[in-house]
Amino acid sequence: MKTQKPKQEILDDVLVELRRIVRSIDLHSKKLIQTHRLTIPQVVLLRQIQSRGRLSLSDLARHTSLSNATVTGIVDRLEARSLVRRVRSETDRRQVFVEILPGGASLMKTMPPLLQESFTRKLQDLEKWEQAQILSSLGRIANLMNADTMDASPILAHHALTASEEDIAGGGNPSKTTGESKSEAPASPGRSAQSKYDPEIRLHCVLSPDGFPPGLDMEKLVDFLHESLKPYEDNPKDIAQGIRDAFSGAGREGGFLLIAEHRGRIVGALVMQKTGMKGYVPENLLLFVAVAPDQRGKGLGRKLVEEAVHSADGNVKLHVEYDNPARRLYERVGFTSKYAEMRYVK
Ligand SMILES: CC(C)(COP(=O)(O)OP(=O)(O)OC[C@H]1O[C@@H](n2cnc3c(N)ncnc32)[C@H](O)[C@@H]1OP(=O)(O)O)[C@@H](O)C(=O)NCCC(=O)NCCS
Repeated sequence: MKTQKPKQEILDDVLVELRRIVRSIDLHSKKLIQTHRLTIPQVVLLRQIQSRGRLSLSDLARHTSLSNATVTGIVDRLEARSLVRRVRSETDRRQVFVEILPGGASLMKTMPPLLQESFTRKLQDLEKWEQAQILSSLGRIANLMNADTMDASPILAHHALTASEEDIAGGGNPSKTTGESKSEAPASPGRSAQSKYDPEIRLHCVLSPDGFPPGLDMEKLVDFLHESLKPYEDNPKDIAQGIRDAFSGAGREGGFLLIAEHRGRIVGALVMQKTGMKGYVPENLLLFVAVAPDQRGKGLGRKLVEEAVHSADGNVKLHVEYDNPARRLYERVGFTSKYAEMRYVK
């Protein structure tokens, strides 16, 4: 005959089961941060944007059962990483839509199913009485924890929905370096060091000649790069050709520009071309990166390079002169130099 568990043991078991649930959600969140630098709410939104194509922020909020303010905060972060972009309606300029960018789409290709997706699928397969029993027990637990009146959305995440990847990965307390010390943790691709650049600077991802942000164009970008690349600058004609090749070229579709803009002025830019190759030759070539002289040394260069590497589909190569101090930056981001580039110039 089965003996009944003592009351204390049952209470302990309840706590153990709760702990297992919390741990499972926690581990799943942290794993996503490690592998994709995305939080669970960010993935939920990206999935919606990808499956529905272009949609307004309020529709996005409706489809994810999140508030407009929460959605706006999450979209801001996704946009800053060039995974999505906001676009104005051609017919009604007041209306803003959000759409996925190639970097976002390629990231989603490698995304494992979310915990809540596999959980919901298994939950759906249960008999109705069992579903009702689970709902009633969980409601009772929330009630016992005084959490029954809390506002919540149907997203399994252990952190605030608008928390940043850094908040979660670093437990909300990223270690700070003191004073002006230049010592840094070893290069960890995907994690920015201290960024001190103006928070008003916005990063735009440009995928076509007509995709420049309002007030900026090809000519302004060429001028900026020609000036800011000094003393390693190319002539404006070659810079313009390099940008055009990033947009299109034999087998090269898929390149992009990143433009850092501050109140209508370009303060940083990066051009990424597709090489059309794979394997021995990386798929992408980081052709130009430059930051305006008055904005240097504040982490903007690193931000541009990290975002570009992350957004590009495949490996990235670049060419840098041996004496260019930018080499240190590239090495810190994670670039290594295995081969010497040699040329036969005719
Ligand atoms: C390289 C460049 C884009 C870096 O931008 P940034 O915003 O200053 O970079 P960050 O603040 O993220 O990082 C600073 C690091 O960049 C590197 N760096 C490269 N050139 C630099 C420069 N002229 N001044 C300051 N730092 C420079 C250094 O490693 C520096 O780190 P350190 O101060 O610890 O030595 C910017 O210096 C620039 O536009 N240089 C001229 C154009 C150029 O050489 N582009 C690269 C062509 S391959």
